[in-house]
Amino acid sequence: MILVTGGTGLVGAHLLYHLTQKNDMIRAIYRTDKKRENVRKIFSYYTENVQEHFSKIEWVQADITDIPSLEPVFKKVTEVYHCAALVSFAPKDYRKMRQVNIDGTANIINFSIENKINKFCFVSSIAAIGNSINGKPVDEGNEWSENDNHNGYSITKYGAEMEVWRGSQEGLNVIIVNPGVILGSGFWNENSGKLFTQINSGLKFYTEGITGFVGVHDVVKAIILLMKSNIKNERFVLVSENKSFKDVLFSIADTFNKKRPSIKVGKIITAITWRVDWLFTIITNKEPLLTKNSARSSHNISHYSSIKIKNQLGFEFESIAKLCATICRDFKS
Ligand SMILES: NC(=O)c1ccc[n+]([C@@H]2O[C@H](COP(=O)([O-])OP(=O)(O)OC[C@H]3O[C@@H](n4cnc5c(N)ncnc54)[C@H](OP(=O)(O)O)[C@@H]3O)[C@@H](O)[C@H]2O)c1
Repeated sequence: MILVTGGTGLVGAHLLYHLTQKNDMIRAIYRTDKKRENVRKIFSYYTENVQEHFSKIEWVQADITDIPSLEPVFKKVTEVYHCAALVSFAPKDYRKMRQVNIDGTANIINFSIENKINKFCFVSSIAAIGNSINGKPVDEGNEWSENDNHNGYSITKYGAEMEVWRGSQEGLNVIIVNPGVILGSGFWNENSGKLFTQINSGLKFYTEGITGFVGVHDVVKAIILLMKSNIKNERFVLVSENKSFKDVLFSIADTFNKKRPSIKVGKIITAITWRVDWLFTIITNKEPLLTKNSARSSHNISHYSSIKIKNQLGFEFESIAKLCATICRDFKS
């Protein structure tokens, strides 16, 4: 039995579809019926027989921070894909992120050890890897330094990795992947999905920060391959290409046949904007549109290397241009 956490999110939902193509028994946890129903929409990007695939999943209602709710989840489980997390750049979410990302991962690890799981996969992030040294692309060997300036999300993903390594010390076979910004269909109002919605609505602004991007299909393909391989207790950076936000936004605009964003936003403007937005959220109690951390990330220039997975598995990544074309097609549909 394969267990998936975070199955109602971007990575988990696409992963579930791929897993349902085989005859394995699959269990996934969910929190609300509404979120679980969204998974059908993701499946509809792949197949007309949504129900056939959806009905292969045994859904159990559970929260990774609620230990009693996890008790029935691990019965007969042999493999775990742990994709659940809280992804946020809002400072007000830091405490909650520590609970979900660190304590929640510790709970899943403890249950996995107790139930003698064969192999455990954790979807981490490039945010949990140390900074570049001497301008070289960041890879699995870059060590995290407490002295670097990290945002709350990074700290909690790093803390979660520590729980996974603790699990490996206690005998669990683990795999960790560190994807860059994940692009994929569905979830158009969340995380990277917003890029497609905003460009389609005529976004005018861009920044020139550079980071690693990867498609959700590649993330799913890589974790399934790594789980099936003999590789254990290693981590892998998953980045197809290092690109500027400008290039990615232009690529999406071109595919949508929309006007490219034309106004370059510099550091000073974003610094003013997040402060104004912060004041606005205090007054209105609304979710911030831009936070200090997301403003900083939009200008950051970081390159990542996925040589390790290319060498060890002969893995080939889909290009970001091709990926954007598929996602734009799904968006329109
Ligand atoms: N998206 C990216 O660009 C990106 C980049 C690198 C790494 N990652 C990592 O990849 C993984 C998957 O990310 P994603 O983009 O798929 O995130 P997502 O779309 O925001 O989905 C998060 C998932 O976690 C679940 N979850 C959150 N809190 C939970 C809790 N307390 N108990 C049980 N489930 C909970 C959510 O359930 P509900 O549906 O009920 O909220 C949802 O299924 C995460 O570990 C993330 O850190 C993401």
